[in-house]
Amino acid sequence: MRMYDLIEKKKLGEELSTQEIYHIVNGYTNGEIPDYQISALLMAIYFRGMNVRERYDLTMAMRDSGDILDLSSIDGVKIDKHSTGGVGDKVTLVLGPIIASIGVPVAKMSGRGLGHTGGTIDKLEAFPGFNGALSEEAFINQVNNIKIAVTGQSKNLAPADKKLYALRDVTATVDEISLITGSIMSKKLAAGTDAIVLDVTVGDGAFMKTKEKALELAKSMVDIGKRADKKIAAVLTNMDEPLGFAVGNNLEVIEAINALKGNGPEDLMEVVYELGSQMIVFSEIETDKVKARKLMENAVADGSAFNKFVEFIQAQGGDSSFATDISKFEPAKYVVPVEAQSDGYVHALKAEAFGLASMSLGGGRETFEDVIDMAVGIVLNKKVGDEIKKGEPICYIHANDESKIKNAMEMINSATVIAPEKCNHMDLIIDIVE
Ligand code: URA
Repeated sequence: MRMYDLIEKKKLGEELSTQEIYHIVNGYTNGEIPDYQISALLMAIYFRGMNVRERYDLTMAMRDSGDILDLSSIDGVKIDKHSTGGVGDKVTLVLGPIIASIGVPVAKMSGRGLGHTGGTIDKLEAFPGFNGALSEEAFINQVNNIKIAVTGQSKNLAPADKKLYALRDVTATVDEISLITGSIMSKKLAAGTDAIVLDVTVGDGAFMKTKEKALELAKSMVDIGKRADKKIAAVLTNMDEPLGFAVGNNLEVIEAINALKGNGPEDLMEVVYELGSQMIVFSEIETDKVKARKLMENAVADGSAFNKFVEFIQAQGGDSSFATDISKFEPAKYVVPVEAQSDGYVHALKAEAFGLASMSLGGGRETFEDVIDMAVGIVLNKKVGDEIKKGEPICYIHANDESKIKNAMEMINSATVIAPEKCNHMDLIIDIVE
């Protein structure tokens, strides 16, 4: 099989066979096919796309390029949840303990933050001692013992994706539906759960800026999951403004703790309950979504969700006294309001700019080597749809470096739209693909 011929085939819009796709993925992963030929192929795929069969083969070939977790020794229907990324997204921190406290086994592999979006493992490391790199055995034992474990992605999980993603990143071929589907679903399938619930974010702070694109991606991923015999659903959620009020690691952890104690922001809880009720239905603990939601609300109200969170942090070596006493989190040195420049209603708090502003304060990474400042970030005082008076704070900047405040303030001001006309709060749940 000549790589030249395969590039030519895709360039002309023809279909690649299963064998050809495995040849490409394996050859690239083990270094036999050079970057320049894969770059050309990626661009051909970008313009010609892949049909569902090709996407499935691409996903499976990428899944098979490394380890596949065997979770069969965990009792019950094992469930994973994945978000395509957002700003202020602390959903896993709240959702995981709630459904684990109901008895749903949560075996979750999470990533680290990059760019303007945050990562769950980084946030969990707010608890001193937290171990986000469990061995497979420890991961499985913990899910069996307490129903929840969250670990970073193991090194040899879908290695083809690591190489391909890095190449897509420098060849302007990241935003193509077949390639995104293969990338996300290969890792989800290698993680070995029986069911997957996808949070496909849509809007300014999301990877997919429009509903149409997000729907296309959601349908593509659900399709592949079903072909691989998984229970799978995707929920499209709004990411035009940050989720909840807090952006930044410790600030988001504190918001998540408050949410588990029953004081969660409405928009965050809407996403948590929608994804969670779908997960409970997949687990077969409750088959009715409305009743599943009630179970979750009860778990928050009676304290069992928060207790599960404490148990989970302790099980992974974290100091859970930070959860019971949030004043232990080191605050940032400076807390500075960003004031509204006119009266009116908040029409936009553009999520991406808030994520970038938090990153500019030290709260995010530009490269995987960067060290995060856990204390910094932004706490909103208003959400889209709220009335605001001139001089009232839109949000508060939490900073440790005084010289970074002015720039963050400018970013926030240009990402905020205040207008005299009333406007509605945002609808969080945009669509569901099952
Ligand atoms: N997230 C991934 O893991 N892969 C993509 O291609 C895009 C988002």
